[in-house]
Amino acid sequence: MNDPNGPMRYKGVYHMFYQHNPKGATWGNIAWGHSVSHDLVNWVPLPLALSPTKSYDINGCWSGSATLLHGHKPVLLYTGLGPNQNQTQNLALPLNLSDPFLKHWVRSQLNPLIAPTSGNHINATSFRDPTTAWLGHDGLWRILVGSQRKDRGLALLFKSKDFVQWVKAKHPLYSAKHTGMWECPDFFPVFINSTSGVETSTPHDNHFRLKHVLKLSLIDLSQDYYMIGTYNQTRDSFIPDMGFEDTELSSIFRYDYGKFYASKTFYDDEKKRRILWGWVNESSVREEDVQKGWSGIQGIPRSVWLEESGKQLVQWPIEEIEKLRSRKPLIWHSKVLQPGALLHLPGITAAQADVEVSFEVKELAKKAKEWKQSGGKMREPQKMCGEKRGIGPFGLLVLASKGLQEHTSVFFRIFKLNNDDNNNATKFVVVMCSDQSRSSLNHKNDLSSYAAFLDVDPLHHKLSLRTLIDHSVVESFGGKGQVCITARVYPTLAINDEAQLFVFNNASSNLKLTTLTAWSMKKARVNSVKI
Ligand code: FRU
Repeated sequence: MNDPNGPMRYKGVYHMFYQHNPKGATWGNIAWGHSVSHDLVNWVPLPLALSPTKSYDINGCWSGSATLLHGHKPVLLYTGLGPNQNQTQNLALPLNLSDPFLKHWVRSQLNPLIAPTSGNHINATSFRDPTTAWLGHDGLWRILVGSQRKDRGLALLFKSKDFVQWVKAKHPLYSAKHTGMWECPDFFPVFINSTSGVETSTPHDNHFRLKHVLKLSLIDLSQDYYMIGTYNQTRDSFIPDMGFEDTELSSIFRYDYGKFYASKTFYDDEKKRRILWGWVNESSVREEDVQKGWSGIQGIPRSVWLEESGKQLVQWPIEEIEKLRSRKPLIWHSKVLQPGALLHLPGITAAQADVEVSFEVKELAKKAKEWKQSGGKMREPQKMCGEKRGIGPFGLLVLASKGLQEHTSVFFRIFKLNNDDNNNATKFVVVMCSDQSRSSLNHKNDLSSYAAFLDVDPLHHKLSLRTLIDHSVVESFGGKGQVCITARVYPTLAINDEAQLFVFNNASSNLKLTTLTAWSMKKARVNSVKI
């Protein structure tokens, strides 16, 4: 599987569609897989919702989104891959609205609804992945479709009165030079000062204090970037607070600094939250994917909201995941970790676990050596993970084999900056890293490491880390969900009961662990029961 498609909740049932090759372990013959769930944790598979049968989608039913028309009538918009790789946008409707599982879908006779023509200047092979539609105060539906013109990425905007006839707006909602093709755009409102989600069509008026988020999947990097900004519905423009053209790409936020692509959100009206899904691709080589018979997974769904600062989003695994936690966690309070400490977490099924840990680092941070910044800037975060002038590393060692030949470490390092400006306050920078370089003795895997800066003041705040481990997936949430890093690892020794879990301190001074709670996790039932 690859991209999540059309997530929604209908008649009390969560629906997840996904890009799926029903005929093989790796990408190809793309159809829409379909599963349903009552809790977003356990899933039941349904027949394919869409498969390539019509001339306009004969080469694939590519990504798209669901919209609940007027809050209750679900429809799907998706990209059809026709002859010569030409891409068009198409509509599918449920056969039977009284079926909460929405098992059968029919395509509109009027498809393709939006096609590149000689008149509309759309690049026919770079035109895909319609968003969930939102309704403007003028009564028109709006969607975005990802595209490119030369190396300029485009979020094309289309409007419609009846969901069938779509007119391209004169200007894209947003575009930026040197970013290449934009896949899977996502556009949604978020509340200022609230963790609740906002329905995609919520009017933008004085009653609601909203910002908007525009997420784009950059094909050239296989990475998802998001911007927070202001959406002006009358002018149909999106003005990011900090956009691609205002700064370098590395300063634009990402949902996840590891493997996480083609993501999509939806509004869950039951729990009034916005939920984010992302595709976590493999780090293994193709032959091994074929051997194991599958490739690609969806990450654990995350709730997403705007941080109090308004600068970035916060993400946290949905609360339902906690149902998988064992009843008796391992709990530690106030432990001092001496330099070189490596503490085994006993009694946990380390190959399938959920760990939350927090460190008080006030004293430790003060001991960091001063870091002279070259040209006033830090180097890219990956390069700081092994940088000895930072204090650390300390964190978790997961999926570790008994002799530690294999392990994945998720850790922090703290840097003290020198003060060129005459302001005397000491500034710190915290980097969070997920290091896969020793994660497997099978060196055919991609063993690259990931990192990001965390906006936490270590003198006044604890450093927290939550890591969800599931055999080959390590999903880490730093600073209460400010920075997320997902890694794929394939240990050869640290598997099942042989896997171990540790907390460690490799800083040169004592580190105070304030709390640690670790749970063994039960297995979710994912597509194992057919109905
Ligand atoms: C993103 C993507 C989409 C496309 C789909 C095809 O991973 O390339 O742009 O619709 O996958 O499977």
